[in-house]
Amino acid sequence: MTVTMDAIVSLCKRRGVIFQSSEIYGGLASTWDYGPIGVELKRNVKEAWWRALIYERDDIEGLDAAILMHPQVWVASGHVSSFTDPLVDCKQCKKRWRQDHLPKTFAVALVSTEDSESSVTIARVLAEDADEALKKIKSTKEWGSKPKGYWQVEGEPQLADPVCPECGGELTEPRLFNLMFKTFVGPVEEEAAVVYLRPETAQGIFVNFENVLTTMRRKLPFGIAQIGKSFRNEITPGNFIFRTREFEQMELEYFCKPGEKCKPGEPTDMDWWEHWKAERLNWYKRFGIRAENLRLREHGPDELAHYAKGCVDVEYRFPIGWSELEGIANRTDYDLSQHMRHSGRDLRYYDQERGEHYIPYVIEPSAGADRATLAFLCDAYREEIVEGRERRVLSLHYALAPIKCAVFPLLKNRPELVEVAQKLARDLKRSFFTVYDDTAAIGKLYRRQDEIGTPFCVTVDVDTMTDGQVTLRDRDTMLQERLPIEKVRDVITERLRQAWKG
Ligand code: GLY
Repeated sequence: MTVTMDAIVSLCKRRGVIFQSSEIYGGLASTWDYGPIGVELKRNVKEAWWRALIYERDDIEGLDAAILMHPQVWVASGHVSSFTDPLVDCKQCKKRWRQDHLPKTFAVALVSTEDSESSVTIARVLAEDADEALKKIKSTKEWGSKPKGYWQVEGEPQLADPVCPECGGELTEPRLFNLMFKTFVGPVEEEAAVVYLRPETAQGIFVNFENVLTTMRRKLPFGIAQIGKSFRNEITPGNFIFRTREFEQMELEYFCKPGEKCKPGEPTDMDWWEHWKAERLNWYKRFGIRAENLRLREHGPDELAHYAKGCVDVEYRFPIGWSELEGIANRTDYDLSQHMRHSGRDLRYYDQERGEHYIPYVIEPSAGADRATLAFLCDAYREEIVEGRERRVLSLHYALAPIKCAVFPLLKNRPELVEVAQKLARDLKRSFFTVYDDTAAIGKLYRRQDEIGTPFCVTVDVDTMTDGQVTLRDRDTMLQERLPIEKVRDVITERLRQAWKG
C-alpha cells in the first residue's frame, strides 16, 4: 500500500496528533503543534532514543543545555560565518529560492525559415538531462507566439544559467543568508546584547565536555546525549513536520581517540563511526521501521560539512521520496579545537596510558525527533478492508503507541458495567497510559483506537458480572481472548515489556 502525505496529515488532524500552529489566526506557515495523541507519540520516540543510549549502555551521559548560549559559541562553531544559504530572487515574479536547490535549466536554439528571413529564439526548460529537455521542448505547443511545428530544434540542449522554477523569469545574483534566528537579551535592542536561538543542540554538548568528563570521571571513549529544540530560519520549509523552522533534535556526541592515538586492535574514530552507523540503523528497525524503507547514503566530498571527515545519512522512504532522518558524522577534533581557541580554555584530554594530552575526536549521530516521529507514523499506517469495511490502523511498536490500553463497557446504559470498566481503567492507568471510553458503539470505539495505534482494548460485558472475565482485543490481529479481570494488568505489562526487549 502506498501511503500519501495527505493521508497522514489528515489522520493527524482528525485524531489529535498534530495541528497547524495558531490555526484560529489563520496559522503560521510550517509550524505545527502536537496534540494530545501526538505529544505522547513524540515523547515515546524520544524516550526510546534516550533509553537505548543512556539506560541500555554504560558509556553515555545525558545533558539538557540551555537554548540561549554565549554568542561567541556560534563564532567558534563557524555558524556566524558559514551557516548560510545562497538565495536568489526572481526578477519577474519576485519569488525567492535557494540557489543550491534550483532544478537544472537546459537551453537550446530554435530556428525557423518560414518567414522571408530566418529567425531564432532560445528555448529554456527545467529538466534532469538533455534528453528530458528535448522531449519537453518538442512537446511544448507554443514558443513565443508561434505554434509547434514553426520552430526546428538546432543542436543539443545545453546546461544553462537557472531560471525561476515558477515563471521562467531571470534570477538575481545569489546573496548569502544566515539561518540563525537572532534575539536580544535584556530590554535594550543593542548589538552587544544579541544572542541566537541555537541552530543545533550539539554546541551545548561541546561547551560542557570538560564539565561532564570531570564530574562523571569519564575516560575515552564516552558520549554525551541531548534532546532539545533547535531553530533555523529555513527558506523553504515544508512537507508537514519534515522541515520546520523550530524542530527537536536528538543528538549524541561520542568522544573517542583519534586513530593515531590508538593501540593496535583498539577501535579508532573510523571504527566508532562504523559502529554508530549500524547502531542507529538498528534502532529504527527495532522500533518498527521496515528494513526496505531505510538506507544509508554517504555524503560526497562536495556535500561534506567543513568540519566533517565523513558523513552518512540514514534515509527513510517518506511519501515525498528518500529523505534524511539522521546524519552520522565524524566531526574530528574540529569543535573542541575551535572552542579551545575562542574561549582560551584547555579542553584537551589527558591520556594516562600514553602520558599525553590531546583533543578527542567526536562521532555525531544527529537525529530529528519530528522526522523520526513522521517516519514511524508513515511506516505504521495502513488501510485495509475487514469484513467489507475500511479499517485504518497505526501498527506502531508498543513502546511508541501513544495510548497502551482502552477500556470500554459493552453497554453504556448498564451502570454496573460502566462502574467495573471505569474502575479497571483507573487501576491500569497506574501501570501504563490507559483511557476509558463509552461515547460510541463498540465497533466504532475499536476503530478509533486502531487509528491512533492503541495496541490493547478491553471490553467489560454482561458476562463479566458473573464470570469475572473481560475481553482483550489485539490491535494487529483483531483476535479477542477472554481472561480474568485481575490478570489484565499483568498480561498487558508483560506484552509491553517483551516488545521493549525486541
Ligand atoms: N549537529 C548537526 C546538525 O544539527 O545538523
